Amino acid sequence: MKKTLQRPEGLPDSLSSPIVTPLMPAVAYASTTPDELDSQYEGRAFGYTYAREAHPNADVLARRIDALEGMSGGLVVGSGMAAVSAVLLGLCKAGDHVVGADQLYGRSLRLMAEDLPRLGIETSLADPTDADAIAAVIQPNTKLVLIEVVSNPTLRISDLEGIAKVCREKGVLLAVDNTFTTPACLQPVNFGADIVIHSLTKLLAGHSDATLGWVCATDQKLTDQMRVFAVTTGMTPSPFDCWLAERGLATFELRFARAQENAQRLADFLADQEGVRRVLYPTRSDHPEVSRAQSLLHGRGCNMVSFEIEGGRPAANAFAKAAEGIAFAPTLGDVGTTLSHAASSSHRALSPDGRAALGISEGFFRVSVGLEDPEALITCFRTALDAARTL
Ligand SMILES: Cc1ncc(COP(=O)(O)O)c(C=O)c1O
Repeated sequence: MKKTLQRPEGLPDSLSSPIVTPLMPAVAYASTTPDELDSQYEGRAFGYTYAREAHPNADVLARRIDALEGMSGGLVVGSGMAAVSAVLLGLCKAGDHVVGADQLYGRSLRLMAEDLPRLGIETSLADPTDADAIAAVIQPNTKLVLIEVVSNPTLRISDLEGIAKVCREKGVLLAVDNTFTTPACLQPVNFGADIVIHSLTKLLAGHSDATLGWVCATDQKLTDQMRVFAVTTGMTPSPFDCWLAERGLATFELRFARAQENAQRLADFLADQEGVRRVLYPTRSDHPEVSRAQSLLHGRGCNMVSFEIEGGRPAANAFAKAAEGIAFAPTLGDVGTTLSHAASSSHRALSPDGRAALGISEGFFRVSVGLEDPEALITCFRTALDAARTL
């Protein structure tokens, strides 16, 4: 029987072209001959073959994030954690040692504490606000150091320049998760980072409807190594998520500017309120690393504000309940303000003493500030604070 190759019908002829990237969900791409396929696999011609390997929507998005970060050849993967895993599992082998900041995102900490040791990769955690503390745990077999510039949820500022210097001197790779700070505040490569990571799920995509990550190394060989690992382990992103994220990215700078203005106003409002024990916002004069924040973030404070109220868990319950219109949800970077409570979510696995050591009490909240009318936002927080005070 004669085999007929089914080819999809082409699009109707048009002199004009679409003004947004089309969504291209094809899983497989047909080639004409085995020779043509050879030339694709051997890199003599470019062509897609199978969506887990690569697809157009991921590539379009990757080039956009590359441009924002001042890097090239980056890789979009299925989540921020896939990006972190591509670095830690794709570049390290049994017998290596990895240093992590002690206030990394919870799942990154879990990878460091449980999965890497299970695979024979040693790990140590140290305080990234102090480059000497990081230097002190680096060993001869240390392969890389992973930090975030603004820590979650206490918003401490890492000594990025000091750590980059230590890593350079000791021949260790520096990986920076730039999710909180974004390239609008800081491009880690300009401070000596070798690898940059993003959860695109957060501020860059910005609408809480796509889960994605991006990772890129300054050394293309390392990015290629992570790409092969990601393709083999199936970390590949969905075309639809990439398409949504590209659309969200178009408004990123505007959204981030507005969210930061709102965050500054909210932080200043909270700091004046009775029943609020402390407020953390990087550009406020009472922040423990304010001068470092000013210089690293070019005077920008980002969109996260953390604060602590008096009254423990009962007050926290009353506050969250009364904060109407604000999603009490464990995410950040959405167009709407979201509220999270570390003791019952991201840091619930720690003992109360462990949380206290990080400055996280039952009254501690982290706010991801959105784009609402600032007066309406402040009214909402005032009402919630009243509810927490008058239990
Ligand atoms: C700093 C940071 N890195 C990585 C991640 C993981 O991203 P994702 O949820 O897209 O896997 C998060 C998630 O909140 C994060 O805050």
